[in-house]
Amino acid sequence: MRKYNVAIAGATGAVGEELCRVLEDLDFPVGNLVPLASAKSVGMDIEFKGKNYKVLELTKSVFEEKEIDIAFFSAGGSISAKFAPFAAEAGAVVIDNTSHFRMDSDIPLVVPECNATDISAWKNRGIIANPNCSTIQMVQILKPLDDVFDIKRVDVSTYQAVSGAGKEGMKELVTQMQDFFAFKLDESKIEKFQHQIALNVIPHIDVFEDNDYTKEEMKMVNETQKILHKNIEVSATCVRVPILRSHSEDITIHFNSPVDADKAREILRNSPSIVVVDETGKNEYPMPIISTDTDETYVGRIRKDLYDDTILHLWCCADQIRVGAATNAVRIAQKWIETES
Ligand SMILES: NC(=O)c1ccc[n+]([C@@H]2O[C@H](COP(=O)([O-])OP(=O)(O)OC[C@H]3O[C@@H](n4cnc5c(N)ncnc54)[C@H](OP(=O)(O)O)[C@@H]3O)[C@@H](O)[C@H]2O)c1
Repeated sequence: MRKYNVAIAGATGAVGEELCRVLEDLDFPVGNLVPLASAKSVGMDIEFKGKNYKVLELTKSVFEEKEIDIAFFSAGGSISAKFAPFAAEAGAVVIDNTSHFRMDSDIPLVVPECNATDISAWKNRGIIANPNCSTIQMVQILKPLDDVFDIKRVDVSTYQAVSGAGKEGMKELVTQMQDFFAFKLDESKIEKFQHQIALNVIPHIDVFEDNDYTKEEMKMVNETQKILHKNIEVSATCVRVPILRSHSEDITIHFNSPVDADKAREILRNSPSIVVVDETGKNEYPMPIISTDTDETYVGRIRKDLYDDTILHLWCCADQIRVGAATNAVRIAQKWIETES
């Protein structure tokens, strides 16, 4: 079987480290692994399959020098904007985890369970975009339900983990909790989030746009429509909560036809990458402690609206660093290999 030289730009970050784990877990056919980061991380060791790989500096020429076939990018939007075109020019396919290219009309935005065939458009610019972490788990659920019941509108509220803001986001929550137990929370630094995140809930992720929605909320709207190739009405409220890992979402789905909760449960049970946990009699439903460190999206609390038989409510959780970033990116790479061979 052919092996591929793989670069990870942002290898020392939350998503980059997880990419290494997922490549190993899914037994991806890696030839040479080339971890890339900023100058300050050069020489650090990244472990992959029991072997250490030295971090190199991300430069314009490294992709050509190292004969990279697949370049995962997770070093921030401005870094992707600057360096991804050089990786593509050097002949690599870029799989980009940032928001930079997602809404470009000639760049495919892919969740393999939903729109794998869009991958063929990678040839336009050599780049495939990975959607926002909150969008991925939601569309994995919406797609199979839409195929059967025809979705008109979605209202979603998210409960997003601090690791969505990278390693520094996790550090800030942990430090503030330690300061709380040391009776000095009032001295704790607030840097990654707009307010204290320990013992708090912040209904504000990314910047506000002119329409009073945040950029994070508008990503869920625009990306859902692009991935599902359908102008579903979406309204999102994105909220940061003081947990380390796994995003949760409360989703209300309006269909164009009456919906049946048992049938919806059955459809989701048979859908790829979805696990239904919905035994309320046994207090069983998805929670971040169940989804963390897994590659599945967990869905439960599936119930019909009390007043309108075309509306369904449900709750889901997924590890946003795996399902919402690294695993989705590696699954795209697996499909890309299938498409190209
Ligand atoms: N965290 C999530 O749940 C998640 C989910 C989906 C998408 N994303 C997206 O993925 C990207 C990375 O997120 P993250 O959470 O992994 O952030 P992170 O933990 O802060 O890691 C950032 C990475 O980018 C590298 N980097 C920063 N500046 C660089 C530069 N000038 N040149 C080369 N490398 C540079 C850092 O390297 P150094 O260590 O050398 O600074 C580090 O490896 C962001 O665009 C984010 O929006 C994140």
